[in-house]
Amino acid sequence: MSERPALRLGILISGRGSNMAAIARQCHDRRIGAQVAVVISERPEAAGLTTAREYGIPARAIAWPGADRGAQFEAAAQTVLAEAGAELIVLAGFMRILSSAFVLAHAGAILNIHPSLLPKYPGLHTHRRVLAAGERTHGATVHFVTPELDGGPRVLQSRIAVRPGDTEETLSARVQATEHIIYPRVIGWCAEGRLVWRDALAWLDGRPLAQPLLEDFDA
Ligand code: GRF
Repeated sequence: MSERPALRLGILISGRGSNMAAIARQCHDRRIGAQVAVVISERPEAAGLTTAREYGIPARAIAWPGADRGAQFEAAAQTVLAEAGAELIVLAGFMRILSSAFVLAHAGAILNIHPSLLPKYPGLHTHRRVLAAGERTHGATVHFVTPELDGGPRVLQSRIAVRPGDTEETLSARVQATEHIIYPRVIGWCAEGRLVWRDALAWLDGRPLAQPLLEDFDA
């Protein structure tokens, strides 16, 4: 592990927070040179907030009133993230769309994980759509966030085979298991300074990533 100070993460979640927990465990075990500074959810009942607190991580619920398209949430989140000294914002099952202004204010410092092999299947219900289309493979993508939904530079993808008899639930479980491996890995690259954002591109080890890296799990 390098001598760099731990990269401070601000993780945004909406639900279970299994990716957040996987990242937090790797930080705790010093497998990656990062530290979860704060976890934020727009849903006070999000199970991941409880998990974070059990891990001793500051966890905050911030309301997202429907009428203002997130303006109040974003302003409050900015304050909480700044107070926590968050250097990288990690969207981990955060089910709201952040404004372009928020995203551009943190350009190159927001990552997301999406449950599909982007650019295929941006948006919701990816497992259902993959099954309906008869795809033979599926997976997840870690990417930088830009104002285009699920459209920012892709860094690392996990690929699995779609098996006969798969359901949304079985596919989701197998994809999530890979997410818990690839998301901490990418965050570790950021912490080591290997992965950077420059000129609106993702650069790994000094080279722009024309295509995301792809790891096969059971394909
Ligand atoms: C993950 O499958 C992720 O790809 C998607 O939302 C899900 C979050 O799961 N964006 P969890 O809250 O991390 O368990």
